Amino acid sequence: MRILVSFVGGNMNKISVRAPGRINIIGEHTDYNHGYVLPAAINLGIQMEVETNEQNRVSLYAKDLNEQFEFELTDEQIQTNKHWATYGFGVVKELQKLGAKVKGFHATFFGDVPQGSGMSSSAALECSLAFALNKLFDLQLSEWDLIKAGQMAEHHYVGTKCGIMDQFASILGEKDQVIFLDCFNLNYNYVPLQLNDYEILLLNTNVAHSLADSEYNTRRAQCEEGVQLLKQHNLIEHTLREIPAKDLEKIKLILPSLIFNRCQHVIEENERVLSACTALQKHDLNSLGKLMYQSHKSLKNLYEVSCAELDFLVDFAKKEPAVLGSRMMGGGFGGSTISIVKSDETANFIEQVSLAYQQQFGIDLTPYSVTIEDGASIIST
Ligand code: GLA
Repeated sequence: MRILVSFVGGNMNKISVRAPGRINIIGEHTDYNHGYVLPAAINLGIQMEVETNEQNRVSLYAKDLNEQFEFELTDEQIQTNKHWATYGFGVVKELQKLGAKVKGFHATFFGDVPQGSGMSSSAALECSLAFALNKLFDLQLSEWDLIKAGQMAEHHYVGTKCGIMDQFASILGEKDQVIFLDCFNLNYNYVPLQLNDYEILLLNTNVAHSLADSEYNTRRAQCEEGVQLLKQHNLIEHTLREIPAKDLEKIKLILPSLIFNRCQHVIEENERVLSACTALQKHDLNSLGKLMYQSHKSLKNLYEVSCAELDFLVDFAKKEPAVLGSRMMGGGFGGSTISIVKSDETANFIEQVSLAYQQQFGIDLTPYSVTIEDGASIIST
């Protein structure tokens, strides 16, 4: 267990930091349901270079897009169709709400975590900025403050009622470890990810269906409806996970069928995370792989956040003996699958699946063999 500590900064006028994207081994759409998740920070991320400017203005430059956006520190809202700028603005506002004295700055950022890929480029952006500003202006904020500021930037400015998993992994990730996080009480510990002759392969579908944001909030509301109904019947006190999966039949008559399906996913997915932890501790990758396939099936049929492209990739993987498990990762409606693949057969698998995917959808997929790395860190000052 780690303690959330404050950073102590010094006088400086510029800093360069990096914050990573994340994978999630299993536990999808459980974080905002006060459940369990198993994420980790990866080798793809965002580099943020921030310099003080002695003004009351902030200017942000997205190098990869060659786009610039400016605002005043006192602005309460901004009008822009630059999605990335809203994340940056939201982070500054949330830090200010915590009482942080953010001064004027210029920030340039760039990176290699693909947008809309389910690897949380948004958390990488939020966390790199929050982390850099905390250091640069010696704001004395805790790691938890930075995590929460990122999440709240999405809630209050972007409009996605996301959970805490992505920002948590981006700040607190550790090399070669996955984070077992209880999103109810925020207890967490690290579980070593020892894959031996296997590796983690992400396949980016390169589709991001527009439903993603609105359906995400709808799913959250549907689960909250389930929680309210179960509380009214005195079946739970706080969270869905108080119902064991073996008792699902007992709540079937209480909940409307759609709400039941959503709750069933969450209840069973939480149990899958616990089983996955046990499997990892026992180095039982076969069991872990099976849990991943079950997770995908549930996300597809019960939670209904998958799409044809993701299903195609998981179905293809299932036929390959070199793949132990595969599932959609992140919010869904596009983005990537995560698979555990035998390292010496990865190249061959990528070739086969890319060809089949191209034939089916006329789209090139992008493969990423990822490694598990530390969370946000300073590159230079
Ligand atoms: C997105 C959100 C996370 C989490 C996942 C689904 O990545 O940002 O908080 O809810 O979707 O598991």
